[in-house]
Amino acid sequence: MTIRAVVKGVGHYLPERIVPNSEFEATLDTTDEWIRSRSGIEQRHFASEDEFTSDLAVKAAEAALKNAGLQADDIDAIVLATSTPDLTFPSVATMVQQKLGMTRGFGFDVQAVCAGFVYALTTANALVMSGQAKRAMVIGAETFSRIMDWEDRSTCVLFGDGAGALVLEAEEGTGTGEDRGILSADLNSDGRYKDMLFVDGGVSTTGTSGKLRMQGNALFRQAVERLTSTARTAIEQAGLQESDVDWIVPHQANIRIIQGTAKKMGLSMDNVIVTLNNHGNTSAASIPLALSVGAADGRIKKGDLLVTEAIGGGLAWGSVVLRW
Ligand code: UT7
Repeated sequence: MTIRAVVKGVGHYLPERIVPNSEFEATLDTTDEWIRSRSGIEQRHFASEDEFTSDLAVKAAEAALKNAGLQADDIDAIVLATSTPDLTFPSVATMVQQKLGMTRGFGFDVQAVCAGFVYALTTANALVMSGQAKRAMVIGAETFSRIMDWEDRSTCVLFGDGAGALVLEAEEGTGTGEDRGILSADLNSDGRYKDMLFVDGGVSTTGTSGKLRMQGNALFRQAVERLTSTARTAIEQAGLQESDVDWIVPHQANIRIIQGTAKKMGLSMDNVIVTLNNHGNTSAASIPLALSVGAADGRIKKGDLLVTEAIGGGLAWGSVVLRW
């Protein structure tokens, strides 16, 4: 018998304020056309001044709980991926715990930037498989608008705020690739590439939160190769093949990276969930956002085989294969 962490519910939240590409034309040497054609982004959502990462996370978590037909106290563990926490500590996960009214269990944050959700999902899966948690809430939540340099046109037009959440529950499986739930995971990082994507401040260095810096073109050239390779590794570990995949649910950073990865994997864009046109790059929130949208509109169905993949600051990258 194998314990599998099976998805029981999914939900997301995007802040009310929508900023179309055209809004940047007033303050920056940029155009809607450049942003659309180079990234695939049409608009992003920005949190209001009094709205924090934990607020976005709570709304996504509440939607996921409702979708699962569960209460906050049914959850044993919250694993929350973010690089934009409300405070240096405590963790956003414990704030979410309090705001949900969850009086038991435990919660902690995971920080792997844009790969954060893949890392959090892998961590939650390990907790479920080892019996530490019967039900786990996995959340990706970010307010990247707070770490933008609004004078840097090469970064500030790309990112947005949002949150997505999944509820996982332990179920008995057969140990084969036919099981529902998380089937395999592949995680990687390489600190030698730090300068490609980092924030130029922090608690122990500048005492400020800093601003995001990215060598977009250099990162772009790393992305397709590494994403294809990690996805292939995870599919192989699950004992499956690329032709078995129903949906790629990628990190939503750039449509050209998403298209390049699908092509290299021999899959059509009809098998890819794309939401980045609506919300830009929301870092750790982008995969659960796309999962939530794809499930709600009926594309992702029970029994479908999904591959999630992401790359970001670190560099950190990885892939999780799961059957919905
Ligand atoms: O989520 C974490 C992972 N992140 C990523 O994977 C992001 C990866 N990178 C990318 O998505 C793309 O590299 C970008 C969208 C960031 C940039 O696209 P690109 O095709 O790689 O453009 P580039 O950086 O090579 O820049 C091309 C030109 C440059 O001008 P010159 O040097 O050719 O004269 C830039 O200065 O575009 C210019 N540029 C802009 N022009 C208008 C850069 N930003 C803008 C802008 N508007 N906002």
